[in-house]
Amino acid sequence: MDKFVIRGGNPLLGTIKISGAKNSALPCMAAAILTEDEVILENIPQVRDIETERKLLESMGAEVELGYGRAQHRTSIKCAVLSDPVAKYEIVKTMRASSLVLGPLIARTGMARVAMPGGCNIGGRPIDLHIKGLESMGAVITYDHGYLEARSPNDGRSQLKGAHIVFDKITVTGTEDLLMAAALADGESLFENCAREPEVTDLAAMLIAMGAKIEGAGTSTIKITGVSKLHGARHRINPDRIEAGTFLIAGAITGGDLNVDCLNPEHLGSLLSKLQECGVKLEVGKDAIRVRSEGAASLKAADITTEEYPGFPTDMQAQFMALLTQCEGTSNVTENIFENRFMHVGELNRMGANITVAGRTATVRGGTKLQSAAVMCSDLRASAALVLAALVADGESILDRVYHMDRGYERMEEKLRGVGAQIRRMGEVFGKK
Ligand code: EPZ
Repeated sequence: MDKFVIRGGNPLLGTIKISGAKNSALPCMAAAILTEDEVILENIPQVRDIETERKLLESMGAEVELGYGRAQHRTSIKCAVLSDPVAKYEIVKTMRASSLVLGPLIARTGMARVAMPGGCNIGGRPIDLHIKGLESMGAVITYDHGYLEARSPNDGRSQLKGAHIVFDKITVTGTEDLLMAAALADGESLFENCAREPEVTDLAAMLIAMGAKIEGAGTSTIKITGVSKLHGARHRINPDRIEAGTFLIAGAITGGDLNVDCLNPEHLGSLLSKLQECGVKLEVGKDAIRVRSEGAASLKAADITTEEYPGFPTDMQAQFMALLTQCEGTSNVTENIFENRFMHVGELNRMGANITVAGRTATVRGGTKLQSAAVMCSDLRASAALVLAALVADGESILDRVYHMDRGYERMEEKLRGVGAQIRRMGEVFGKK
């Protein structure tokens, strides 16, 4: 099991470059299923979930090249023949975002067999809204020993039909899955109460480059006019707004002076205003942000409530809570999106934080000096919160199960070491043979 060893106390100084967004790359890779032509995606992050998606696509018959040379983080995907349109449990159990192949497979081949994604540490993660939407487009869905079997109308011989769908809840991958299905459906679709996350907009931009007719992506109402065929395209993935937010907090919590580069400030609005409310100094440029703070003494408490975009992102909740442990005063953190996303609280308290949880709200009594400790990572963003806490704790912390981190952060220890953090990895390094 890989571990990080982090000695706290160094302010971070210098420049960190942000990688492409995992949560954009995953739906865009799945969109390659919609055409027999080659698609090329640039700015792909070198993270484990991308590797998993590659295995998934190859298991269905796709040809996937993945290059991470210095000059390029790109993938070329060609789904000329999808010999086995099945998303197997062995792969799906490691990444629930595998359900993103469901819509494209039905749209392209008329059928799909996808292992039902189990829950994960942060919640049940159902896909009932994906299924309900596909059924309203004419898909026939049955269940077979943990697998979901789906066929388009006439037992897979006809196209899905355009539909008017109002999502009961705002769902990011639900919106993405159905957007891909509707792109090749017969007729018009109108989706309401859609997710507005930048990752949805990024996927729509790629689909439009492939010849799809989509209006309104990024708003809660999206109109799609189905086409009979989509062609190949080249598309550059958005910068990762959650990685960017994580490193902005790293600069703030360590009392550093950090330039976070290759980002899109427009995707960070709610986070930036919360950082400023805590007394963090920000200089916002076109594609970079300079973050400065005088450390704990200069920071003050603030309340956060996670909401769908453009509200405060649930994927930044754990990281921001680590910062709040250093802010003078009491902060309330309310998690509205997932039912079990306070796994980091116990570990932060073991490092000396003072956090209590009641239902969906964690109360953080800030201004506490954190002590180094041996801690356990539990999910992607909780792991990032523990890294941030260890960067400011006195002494040497050991973080176990950092494979959670490798799922969504590219070379995190190298990027942090490059700006003065005392961090190293014990065990093999993902991505290096
Ligand atoms: C996406 O997950 C992201 N993953 C998550 O990022 C992110 O936390 C989440 O959106 C919210 O922003 C990817 O994009 C790959 P949802 P997703 O469907 O689409 C409920 C990370 O750290 N729901 O928007 O799975 C669901 O239970 C990951 O990178 C249903 O009830 O999230 C949740 O309470 C973690 N039925 C809420 O909606 C459904 O059919 C939002 O979930 C679908 C969702």
